[in-house]
Amino acid sequence: MNKISVVGAGHVGATCAQRLAEKELAREIILIDIVEGIPQGKALDQWESAPVEGFDSKIIGTNSYQAATDSEIFIVTAGIARKPGMSRDDLLKTNTDIVQSVSKEIARVAPKSIIIMVSNPLDVMSYVAMQATGFPRERIIGMAGILDTARYRSFIALELDVSIEDIQALVLGGHGDTMVPLVSTTNISGIPLNHFIDQDRIDALIERTRKGGAEIVSHLKTGSAYYAPSAAAVQMAEAIVKDKKRILPCAAYLQGEFGHNGIFLGVPCKLGVSGIQEIVEVDLTESERNELAKSAEAVRSSMKFLSN
Ligand code: NAI
Ligand code: 2OP
Repeated sequence: MNKISVVGAGHVGATCAQRLAEKELAREIILIDIVEGIPQGKALDQWESAPVEGFDSKIIGTNSYQAATDSEIFIVTAGIARKPGMSRDDLLKTNTDIVQSVSKEIARVAPKSIIIMVSNPLDVMSYVAMQATGFPRERIIGMAGILDTARYRSFIALELDVSIEDIQALVLGGHGDTMVPLVSTTNISGIPLNHFIDQDRIDALIERTRKGGAEIVSHLKTGSAYYAPSAAAVQMAEAIVKDKKRILPCAAYLQGEFGHNGIFLGVPCKLGVSGIQEIVEVDLTESERNELAKSAEAVRSSMKFLSN
């Protein structure tokens, strides 16, 4: 791939740029931010790690979209985190304005690109980007499910004292407290999770997963997670760049799939060079279907703000 651009050179964006370069997923990685000096300084520092790490991807920091012209992929991490005294709606409004303006720039300089959305609230920001760009749903993909699933898998590995490599799982739904870890499909080398632990311990793992983002914030105090989020966004980019056709949980715009319409929600997606190539409608238990419906309702209720 020729060019991947990352918008927002904060914690998540800058870590994405470094990971993209270390994996040599594009010839050029463009890091964009509105703050003068930050993308330039971080990109130069990262490029100076190239001789040690041994990568040839060039990392370029800039405040303008010109360098991002014809990028094949954009990872959007621009936005602000919630500050004390700020309501959820205040955050939604500020990030909507930011994501709208970023998306318009992307559509202007790279109308054929694929957007991997990271900014929060994730499911709503993915919708805002779709509206602002007019891109088809295949080319707007929200990152949350891989992160939420990674948290779930990492907690299971600790709880069972087994290798992370053997844990298969899927977390669907919106990126929030209503996300839906699919216990019915969770297995360790094909052996169902409930063979190893009882329902109470499974419930505790689900609860910890749902609060996974808040757990990191409670430690960091001044910011939110970025190592696992950047790893997840770059895994999506890699699946696209290498046309791997991986099936990964991503936020996709639903048009009837899983019984939902007109919202972004985390569902299993096949990712390849054109973006989302298929939404896989896995069978859910009745309780999982109900939980997914609750999660969809939570996303819809945040979206109401957009029409106000
Ligand atoms: P951060 O505050 O470290 O970085 C955000 C960057 O965006 C800042 O450098 C800021 O200058 C820049 N920015 C603001 N407005 C901009 C604009 N109009 N154009 C370009 N850049 C702009 O925040 P962090 O930790 O990197 O998180 C970024 C976003 O990602 C937040 O909204 C956060 O909630 C979200 N997030 C989402 C996750 C998910 O699972 N979807 C996981 C982790 C973070
Ligand atoms: C997370 O889950 C803040 O959405 C972010 O860590």
